[in-house]
Amino acid sequence: MEWTPDPRELADLELLLSGAFEPLTGFLGHDDLHAVHERGTLADGTRWPAAVTLYLPADVSPGDEVTLLDPEGLALAALTVTAREPDGLTSGPVKGLSAPEHGPFARLRRTPAEVKDELGGRPALAVTMRGPLDDLSEIVGTAQDLGAAIMLLPLSYGEAGPAVVRAALRAKEKLPADTIVVSVPLAPRDEPEIDLELREHVATAYGAAEHLAGPDPVHIPGPPHRRGLVVFFTGLSGSGKSTIARGLRDTLLELGTRTVTYLDGDVVRHLLSKGLTFSKADRDLNIRRIGFVAAETARHGGLAICAPIAPYAGTREEVREMVESVGADFLLVHVATPLEECERRDRKGLYAKARAGLIPEFTGISDPYEEPDDADLVIDTTHISVEAAVSRVLDTLKGGGWIR
Ligand code: ADX
Repeated sequence: MEWTPDPRELADLELLLSGAFEPLTGFLGHDDLHAVHERGTLADGTRWPAAVTLYLPADVSPGDEVTLLDPEGLALAALTVTAREPDGLTSGPVKGLSAPEHGPFARLRRTPAEVKDELGGRPALAVTMRGPLDDLSEIVGTAQDLGAAIMLLPLSYGEAGPAVVRAALRAKEKLPADTIVVSVPLAPRDEPEIDLELREHVATAYGAAEHLAGPDPVHIPGPPHRRGLVVFFTGLSGSGKSTIARGLRDTLLELGTRTVTYLDGDVVRHLLSKGLTFSKADRDLNIRRIGFVAAETARHGGLAICAPIAPYAGTREEVREMVESVGADFLLVHVATPLEECERRDRKGLYAKARAGLIPEFTGISDPYEEPDDADLVIDTTHISVEAAVSRVLDTLKGGGWIR
């Protein structure tokens, strides 16, 4: 079988294959993981600080071989399954099949063996970085004391990855000429001590005699009016989502301070999601497509307004995560006009048809709508005008600093 691990798992896979995670040769199973959490060792007592795990949704059995793919379908590694827990935790050794494709700064990804070769036995001081180095004097001093070459290891994982590598290249200009920069895709671990210990392990694998941890990056998010934002309306058909969303779009365009992408449910189904049905699977796919486009918009600081029914809480949550993972904000607006009112209005005549059995799986009638419990704003349009509803959204945007 084939499987595409998530970005964190792929980063760990690369380090497993490159030898940076020695002595590990594969993803950890239950016993090793337990020992790591309890004692900071593997089950056999070998010192190892952090979880290196893979979760597979499908059922696999010990002995099965799983081909691990990158998101574009390139076969990276073969995993020989040793165990799979009911929660999906799948362990086993991995064998590289082809070199991973790298994005920005690909030329700076090198294996520990290559770097050790270049060092040729010279002692090295490794500096692992997750952000810019503010003080180079300690590094220079320590390297001098040790008679060591300096090796900067920007931990280039995720969105901030290229920025960390740029910071390392900037620092290199001010350091001795033989300073080496190697980009290492080490995903951060939640607990600082564990993260630090893992950084030490990786530094040692790259041949460092000593390790300094660069300072934690100070994360200063841009002001809200410059950050990407997704305003996501959810609610029953006929609840007033599209009307409020359109009113919001028009007001924002009149203000002219932000660019707007408008993704109405019915409009999306004419092109982006043409051909999809109203089954659970197709509705989820529809919402993921909307979320994908909205997140791409927000990644560049744009504002996206979405207005599908989006009846499932899990899928709405996925979209929230997609958006937040690109550093943008997500605002969920529940247009909570009750079914009776939507049905009384029945502007498209769909409720009558649904009641007559002419439209199957109709949300609210013969298909579920999971009420949000995480809405940032709830609007029932039964007794308020469109203008008033739009004003409430605008007030929220002003209150949060998203528009000025
Ligand atoms: S969602 O469930 O996938 O989010 P979406 O917002 O794209 O739905 O489409 C909803 C619109 O499709 C409704 O406003 C209505 O006009 C139309 N529609 C057609 N069939 C159905 C159905 N079975 N359930 C809900 N809406 C439907």
